Amino acid sequence: MKIALLPGDGIGTEIVAEAVKVLKALNLPLDMQTADVGGTAYDKHDHPLPPATLQLAQEADAVLFGAVGDWKYDKLERHLRPEQAILGLRKALGLYANFRPAICYKELVGASSLKPELVAGLDILIVRELTGDIYFGTPRGRRTAADGHFPGSEEAFDTMRYSRPEIERIAHTAFQAAQKRSKRLTSVDKNNVLETSQLWKDVVVEVAQQYPDVQLDHMLVDNAAMQLVKAPKNFDVIVTGNLFGDILSDEAAMLTGSIGMLPSASLNDKNQGLYEPSHGSAPDIAGKGIANPLATILSAAMMLRFSLGQPEAADRIETAVQKVLEQGLRTGDIYSEGTQKVGTAQMGDAVVAAL
Ligand code: IPM
Ligand code: MG
Repeated sequence: MKIALLPGDGIGTEIVAEAVKVLKALNLPLDMQTADVGGTAYDKHDHPLPPATLQLAQEADAVLFGAVGDWKYDKLERHLRPEQAILGLRKALGLYANFRPAICYKELVGASSLKPELVAGLDILIVRELTGDIYFGTPRGRRTAADGHFPGSEEAFDTMRYSRPEIERIAHTAFQAAQKRSKRLTSVDKNNVLETSQLWKDVVVEVAQQYPDVQLDHMLVDNAAMQLVKAPKNFDVIVTGNLFGDILSDEAAMLTGSIGMLPSASLNDKNQGLYEPSHGSAPDIAGKGIANPLATILSAAMMLRFSLGQPEAADRIETAVQKVLEQGLRTGDIYSEGTQKVGTAQMGDAVVAAL
């Protein structure tokens, strides 16, 4: 089983190192190779996604990704910014299906900014389309406005765009995910304003006919943002487009109070996948050994389950993480009085011991 390790920037190196520790402790035949990505890759090779890194990722069964980005790259031309590495990987590998679970661990209920009764037991899954929409739609750019409110002025534009097959395949992914859970699916769009969203809704309704056991409803994205903080437990699986999914998944993550706990998976139709924590590179705490490695360790579990066909190993990791939480071990981001504060490496060691 070939795994490409792309630690990236900021805390990326530290958290991926802990996930590697855990993977090695499983004694599986894993071939892990590391490559540069993001700002680190730009510094060394003048590009955030160098050809050798892309090739390693393409040839692997799965990519374990840390995080990319640092303020010091914000002034670079867009195509050289660290974020282009992750967008480039999504596009090149065709990783259209993004799974972002938001689970509120009972030990961490107090870390949420919402009242405990609203989030206790929360377990929702956001299925985000990841290779279409306004993120990748063309044309885009800057020009002089020919019309609009201020003709002759500088303007910028992007294109929100979805084709029927793109919506069909992510809808199938989401219905099948719902079938494995509580058989409820909410499709989120903005069909009261956008053509893209009207096609989205029409296609999701058509695909639904093949899944009569799944109860489908539809919600406008503004209302969904509101319902997520009002009554998050009313949701089970949410399916939505790239831009709305970006925003709602951060909102959902924060409900759990601990973005440092949340893994994610991005898959293509060959089940090749990229696995990464839902959080970013946190340059402010990089190198201090205090970052929470659990989201990355849980991403490694998702990788074993979805891309490497090792569900038992995935279960073992998830149980081990549950155990260290029960033992009261906490990194700073999830620390509360009465628990034991540990660093990144100590947390990784504790997971290995619990395995
Ligand atoms: C995410 C991130 C990315 C996105 C950025 C880093 C390009 O916010 O994975 O949610 O917008 O998709
Ligand atoms: Mg995001």
